[in-house]
Amino acid sequence: HYKSKHFKPSHHQQYHSGSNPVSSRGLSTRRELYERDFPVYKQPVEVGSFSLDSRRRFFNDARQLRYYVEPDKEPNFDLRDGYKDRFIKRDDSVKEKLDHILRWILANRSKLSSKSAENKSCALDVDFVTWRGHLTKLLTTPYEAREGWLLAVTRFRDTLYISEVETEAARRERENRTGRHEEMMYWGYKFEQYTCADTVHSSPDPGGVVNTNEAFCTVVQTRLADHRLLFSGEVDCRDKDPNAPGPPACYIELKTSAEICTPKQRSNFHRFKLLKWWAQSFLPGVPRVVAGFRDHDGVVVSVETFPISKISHLIKNEQNCWKPTVCMNFCCDFLSFVKQTVTEDDPSVVYLFSYEPHRDVTYSLHRDSQYSFLPQWYMEEITR
Ligand code: A3P
Ligand code: MG
Ligand code: MG
Repeated sequence: HYKSKHFKPSHHQQYHSGSNPVSSRGLSTRRELYERDFPVYKQPVEVGSFSLDSRRRFFNDARQLRYYVEPDKEPNFDLRDGYKDRFIKRDDSVKEKLDHILRWILANRSKLSSKSAENKSCALDVDFVTWRGHLTKLLTTPYEAREGWLLAVTRFRDTLYISEVETEAARRERENRTGRHEEMMYWGYKFEQYTCADTVHSSPDPGGVVNTNEAFCTVVQTRLADHRLLFSGEVDCRDKDPNAPGPPACYIELKTSAEICTPKQRSNFHRFKLLKWWAQSFLPGVPRVVAGFRDHDGVVVSVETFPISKISHLIKNEQNCWKPTVCMNFCCDFLSFVKQTVTEDDPSVVYLFSYEPHRDVTYSLHRDSQYSFLPQWYMEEITR
């Protein structure tokens, strides 16, 4: 599905007659409107990476990148081990917005702006800057019946910056998690510790501390139709084979999921889990997900690899299932809607786009509000 070189205009803009997805109400999220040819999505190129250490400090390098070590056929990893005494949890009430990506941009400007005569202001040569996770939410929106989202957008020197705002519902959920849910959120990170080593030649250390402040992030550039994108996303680990292809093709996404025992569970896994897994990894060009299937007590009983390119075939037997083309076309149309809407080029102005399940995407405009997110240090340095 990646297009490597040339822009291929879609000759079949199969909007059903009289059903333009944009109306006075906003942007429609109805699936039928997005069932047309797959849009051009260029092979994502890694333009850099950065690391966040155990105290969430930024480093313009790959020091936190880990190496995947294939587990045993019958792993028996106990994901509950260490939850009480060897776990340092990131404070998720701290909202970092785009700050780490903006730091990366300042440290790597020469890779992004062409200092040509036409580009006197040294603007970035991209249309959108955002987190991969925000784009994942856009891709899954036509199928999202439970959780809404809020995305703040600011146009600054002709680049559109997209930063998520936590919804009231999400804040309430975060503040009212059960003990069981808190512990289950740890399981995914514990699985990473069982399967990742710090260096090419070392082994995983399940006796160590799990610190969820630590992260390795790739920064990729790509294009969706006529939208030039720059985004960053966390990467769990890479293939340790030195002959593996370069990034992002050597990267591996790790996941845990409840073991599948019934046809109903299999169907739900295809319809809901694989949608999220596909969207998250397809965007940055990460080619495979390694899944640890665990029982009710958090013991991993099997491990399976899912190549991202095979997921769309795996789900074809499900009736009424999600479609990659709907995800990508919706995202593309949302970005066009944002370009059309966010006209005022001013860092103190935020257009707040809002989605509630089964509704259209709408927006509101905010000047000098709590929603402004581009920091002074970024605007000062980039305009230099
Ligand atoms: P699982 O994916 O195995 O559930 P990621 O998979 O994106 O690398 O994230 C690592 C882990 O962080 C997840 O492991 C999960 O435990 C936790 N996590 C990520 N996103 C989350 C979310 N929205 N809510 C709760 N936990 C989340
Ligand atoms: Mg991760
Ligand atoms: Mg993961």
